[in-house]
Order: sequence, then structure tokens, then C-alpha cells
Amino acid sequence: MSKHIRKAVFPVAGLGTRFLPATKAMPKEMLTVVDRPVLQHVVEEAREAGIEHFIFVTGRNKGVIEDHFDIAYELEDTLRKRGKAKEYELLMSALPPPGATSFTRQQAPLGLGHAIWCARDIVGDEPFAVLLPDMVTMGTGPKKNRCLSQCMDAYNSYGGNIIAVEEVPKEDTDQYGIVSLGKDFGDTFEITGMVEKPPKGTAPSNLIISGRYILGPEIFDLLSKGKQGAGGEIQLTDSMIELAKMQSFHGVRFDGRTFDCGSKLGFLAANVAFALADPALASGFQNELRKIVGGF
Ligand code: UTP
Repeated sequence: MSKHIRKAVFPVAGLGTRFLPATKAMPKEMLTVVDRPVLQHVVEEAREAGIEHFIFVTGRNKGVIEDHFDIAYELEDTLRKRGKAKEYELLMSALPPPGATSFTRQQAPLGLGHAIWCARDIVGDEPFAVLLPDMVTMGTGPKKNRCLSQCMDAYNSYGGNIIAVEEVPKEDTDQYGIVSLGKDFGDTFEITGMVEKPPKGTAPSNLIISGRYILGPEIFDLLSKGKQGAGGEIQLTDSMIELAKMQSFHGVRFDGRTFDCGSKLGFLAANVAFALADPALASGFQNELRKIVGGF
């Protein structure tokens, strides 16, 4: 039987240069999609999937992330005294239990693989999940469950390593990590190969590695080699390629939508989609959108 996945790593040490100047003094993971930071959406997805311990790999200027997942005594006390029970409950329901968060620093943004490696001692010798906080997912399938829950279902069926994938237009494949397909079961399939940012026209498929993973702890030994890959960065994909020589990898076609909130377009689309999915905002927001699209 596969080992239970208890821990998730959130790499949040990137510089967010695509969002300057917004990210000069504020981490990009704290930009809001409707009423909560991008990172809170992703932590909620992990909680929904049964994650019990949340490991954040941060960097300089990211201290506010730690505060966000802690109590805010003065604010909570004021809300209580003013009888704002709903707002107080909203804060309390998002608070991880005491001791359920860990923070470590990457020190220098040497790449995603290096960020994950920085969590090695906190993860220890057990399989774990990775969620890229840039990628915000919305479950649109019958169960409305988000991407990591669907990865957990695949893990419970197949064990080994799991990667969520998504289709992109063929001409965009050179910007992403791409998987090769083996035996196809529909929602899931065997992964027979991976390549990071293949030159145009050489990608083995148009399925990109989309930001949710379940990995065995053996990945850390491979990452510790610190080999630089595409863009001079220590790439997670390169170590996964090595791990795939020893262990199975399955891909999960996520039944839902993923928004790349690390790009302006994806971030704006996420705000529109989440606002339209919120019953308290939907009809008013639709009216506003119609006015804007119709030229005010
Ligand atoms: P990105 O490359 O999209 O993030 O990494 P970035 O570097 O912050 O963005 P831009 O291109 O400058 O705008 C994907 C995820 O991996 C994390 C980022 O924080 C992001 O969540 N990451 C990336 C790290 O934690 N450390 C790194 O060295 C690189």
C-alpha cells in the first residue's frame, strides 16, 4: 500500500519579475485573487487534499507570508469586540493548526529544483506533495475537487510519482516541461519521458507539467547534485527524469481549470473566473464586465 501523503512543499522564493513594480516590496504569492492571496487559494487546495503539514520555501522580503498563516492577535481581538463574528470566523477557518507550518529560506533563487531541495530535512524520508503557488486551480468536474485531490486519487491507485499535466497549443511547448505518454487510461497515463523547455518543434507532446506533483523522497539525493539545466537553473524536471529511470511516474489530466497567476494574463483571468464563481459577486460583476467590454 502507498504511504499516506502528509506534507506539501510550497516554493515561494522566486523574484516575481513579471509583476514588477507590484512585487518590489510584496511577494507575488500575496497578490490577491478576489479576496485572498494567491498562496491561500493553493494552501486551501492542499488542505482539501488532506495535507497536514505545510512547508514554505521562502526568501528575503517574504516575511509577510509567515504572518499571513499565523494569528493576528490585535485584529482578531478587535473583530471579536466589535461583534464581527463572520469576519473573525473567516480568519480562523483559514488558520493552519499550531505546528502545522514550517518555513525555510532558499537564500538565492537558483531554480525550482534547488527550492525543493531546501525542504529536504523538513520533509524527511517520506513521499510528499509539491504545489507551485503561481498555479491556481479551480475544480470544474462533477466533484469540484481541485488538482491535488485528483493527484491523490491517482497516487492511491498507482503509487509511485504523480505529475499533473495540462494541454497547451503546440507552438507554446518550448516554454514548459513536457511529458511523453505511455499507456493511456483516460484521466491518467504512464509517463515514459520528460523534457524541460524543448526547442520548438521537438516536443514529444503538448502536455505540460502544470504545477502539482507527488514525489518520492529519493528525489532529494538527485537534487543534491545541483546540476544546472535550462536557463542555468537547477531544474526539478531534470531530477525527475533521473528518478523516472528507477520509479514509476503517472500523469493526471486535471478535470478543471488552471490559471498561471505568475503571468499577468493568467492572474487577471483567475480574478474574473473566481469572481464569477462567487454567488455574492457574480451578477454585479457580470454587469460591470458587460459595461467595460461594451466600451463603458
Ligand atoms: P517562476 O520562474 O515562475 O517564478 O517559478 P519567478 O522566478 O518568481 O517568476 P518571474 O519569472 O521572475 O516572474 C515558479 C515557482 O517556483 C518558485 C517561484 O516562487 C514560483 O512559485 N521558485 C522559482 C523558487 O521558489 N525558487 C527559485 O529559485 C525559482
